[in-house]
Amino acid sequence: MQVKSQIRQFLIGSGLWYPLSLLRNIPAIFHWLRSGCNGLAPDPVKLMVIGAYLKRYSIDNFVETGTHVGKTLGYFAKKGIGCTSIELSQELYQTACTLFKARKNVRLVQGDSSQRLPELLQEINIPVLFWLDGHYSYGLTASAETHTPVSAELKAILNHPVKQHVILIDDARYFDGTNGYPHLDDLLRVIRADGSYSAEVSTDIIRLVPRVVP
Ligand SMILES: C[S@@+](CC[C@H](N)C(=O)[O-])C[C@H]1O[C@@H](n2cnc3c(N)ncnc32)[C@H](O)[C@@H]1O
Repeated sequence: MQVKSQIRQFLIGSGLWYPLSLLRNIPAIFHWLRSGCNGLAPDPVKLMVIGAYLKRYSIDNFVETGTHVGKTLGYFAKKGIGCTSIELSQELYQTACTLFKARKNVRLVQGDSSQRLPELLQEINIPVLFWLDGHYSYGLTASAETHTPVSAELKAILNHPVKQHVILIDDARYFDGTNGYPHLDDLLRVIRADGSYSAEVSTDIIRLVPRVVP
């Protein structure tokens, strides 16, 4: 297990993880395409979705909640953009500190993102792409009082004076009103009432983009 996670860390750190993951996922990607892009997308597709939004909105700052083993973070860190990631688990945070220590464009924060993200937002005055993915998911992952801090994270972002962020929320399938997840319909109601972002749900990702693009 230890050796397996060391190999994974090496592959993520060197960037080799991503082409290998794409190759390994080719059958899954074909299956997903054949199903009409229905439901959960294979990991490489999710990375492409995030990358497409960064490009479309000319954003070069990525903020993630839930570092985990650094797969998504490693991909965008290698592109040289500003990256910040918040992780609740002390162990996963320490591993990420080792993995990304040479990357000057990566900032790692330990703690519950329902508290850390509002603190971080006070330092932000430009549009950011938020990848909200900090939640309990078994294995090594940590949990705060509820399985997910997403409601507090979203509230903090919607209250932020910059209204040009892009907010991508992973795992739309979990939004059923249990374990701290709001019901998807309730979340969409909050977004509509706020009025600054329009919402779309696709490939298991809730996508909030600015209504007004400068
Ligand atoms: C699904 S994993 C994240 C995967 C990662 N974002 C990626 O795309 O590669 C969820 C992570 O969120 C962390 N987590 C759980 N609750 C959290 C919280 N309240 N604040 C920050 N991180 C949290 C877990 O420990 C776990 O590592």
